[in-house]
Order: sequence, then structure tokens, then C-alpha cells
Amino acid sequence: MIDQRTEGSKVSIIGAGAVGTSLAYAMLIKGVARHVVLQDINAQKVHAEALDLMHGGQFMPTAKIEGTDNVEATADSDVIVITAGARQRPGQSRLDLAGASVAMMRSIVPPLVELSPNAIFVVVANPVDVVTQAVLKISGLPPARVFGTGTVLDSSRLRQLISQKFHVATSNVHAYMCGEHGDSETPMWSMASISTVPIREWELRSGPVTDELLDGIADRVINAAYEVIEGKGSTNYAIGLAASRIIQAVLRDEHVVLSVSRLMTGWNGISGVCMSVPTIVGARGAIRQIDMKPSDAELESLRASAAQIREALSNLEG
Ligand code: LAC
Repeated sequence: MIDQRTEGSKVSIIGAGAVGTSLAYAMLIKGVARHVVLQDINAQKVHAEALDLMHGGQFMPTAKIEGTDNVEATADSDVIVITAGARQRPGQSRLDLAGASVAMMRSIVPPLVELSPNAIFVVVANPVDVVTQAVLKISGLPPARVFGTGTVLDSSRLRQLISQKFHVATSNVHAYMCGEHGDSETPMWSMASISTVPIREWELRSGPVTDELLDGIADRVINAAYEVIEGKGSTNYAIGLAASRIIQAVLRDEHVVLSVSRLMTGWNGISGVCMSVPTIVGARGAIRQIDMKPSDAELESLRASAAQIREALSNLEG
């Protein structure tokens, strides 16, 4: 039986597609939220998705689950997650979805802000950097309170591949993908380490760590979503887990460092676009992009990524 308590953390997920439902599942089985609202324009589907989740109530921490097409059910949420957006088809890049996703935000966002004026907004819809910036503008909220999943998932993909290659647990790998969550993203190798050892100083059984090896890993990360989309039509589990991790950091005020996408305001001279760099995430949202000095080549690549996002934004406005 589902506990009907409504107090405690309330998270509303907008969009009950593969990503929204995987996020709900991840949050529920990990006990991240006490109250999860799944909202979608397809009433029959969202009702069925919520029922299916509720039927597992015996096997997960107590939570209230609602499935609805009524946006008013999201009122007074602590966190609003936007997964509704255009869907990436095989052969499309994330940036190809910009026009359609941003158009949807113009109608989706205003009532959400009105109903939950104190919520933190987490954007998952792609192209996430462009959509985050659109939501930031439409909502009128401060940048810390509107941010995207960005490259949190890409950083997880990076750590997983390093872990496999170096035979060290993922939790001991410290490495970030930064910039656009998309084709122009950059691995921050100059700051990557395994435990406390800089990655380039690690001795593999096969010999020293070469640029070819690192480039190969980065290429696999950048192309990871294409491979999954080719095979099964969309990605959902890993992005659901990544978003759940971010929401946990907000609800528990963790101050954990995650590469979420938020408005850049002068970090290493980059301003005016939403993109990912390592950022402290807690109850106040994406609180602070941490001070770090990328290598010249990395910074150049991040600037190119920022230019790419800026161009996508100006195409929408123009
Ligand atoms: C991915 C989608 C979420 O990278 O963009 O899996």
C-alpha cells in the first residue's frame, strides 16, 4: 500500500516518456523523494505509468506517487524536472532539436513557475544547454535555480570507461566532461585523476597513458548516446540515474560537485551561455561553478563549445 503522506520533498517530473519514467523509478527505488508527481499531456499513459510504479510500493522506500495530466498537481514542488521535449531520432544531433524543444518551453514553463514559485528547476530536455537557457529566460528565476543535467551523464560515461580501462573503481576516478552536452563537449584531462594520481602519470600494465588512449576514450563518450539511440531509439536509464543524483544533491543540500549546465558568468572568462563545468549543487541549486584552471587547449575547446551554444540560441531568436 502506498503511504499517503504528502509532507517532505516533492518532485514533479514533466513528461512521462522513457526519460521521465526512468527518473521516477530511479528516485523511488533510491528513496530520493517522498512525493513524486509525473505529469504528461497523455492522461491515459501517465496514469498507467504511475500505477505501474505504485504496484512496486512494497519493494521500495515509502513515497507518494501521482500520475496526472493536470499541471496544478505540481503546485508547491521542491524540484521541477523538465523531461518533455523533442525526441532525438537516429541521425539527428541534439542541437537539431533546439527549435521544437524551446517552443514547447514557452507554454510549459510559465504555469509551473506560478504554481511552484520556490522550486529548483532541473532541465533534462535536449539540447539541454539551449533549453536550460530558454527556461532561465522564460521563468525569470535566478541562474542558480534553473540548471540542466548538462554533462553529468557524460562525466559518468567517462568515469565508467576509465574505470574499465584502468581497472579501478568508478568512485576512485575523478574526471569531467565539460562544455556542451553534445558533440562539442570536452574531456578535462589536465584535471583528471585516479585516486590522487594525475591520469597521465598512471602506469597501465600495457605501459604509459598515451594521448591516443585518452582521445579514444573521449570519442567513445561523445558518441555514446548515438550508439544507444541507434540500437534502442532513445537513452533513458543512465540519464534517469544522473538526474536522480542531481535531485538528491538538491533535496539533501549535499554541496556535491557535479558538471551541471548553468549560466556562465565569467568562469575563466566565459559568460552569457548555459553550459557545464564542475559546480557545487545543494538546496539553493547550482550554487557555484568551482575555480579551476583548464589547460590552454581545454579552454579553447570550451570557448568553441560556448560559441556553438550561442549560435544555436541566436538562430532561435533570429
Ligand atoms: C544522452 C541523452 C540524454 O546523452 O542526451 O543519453
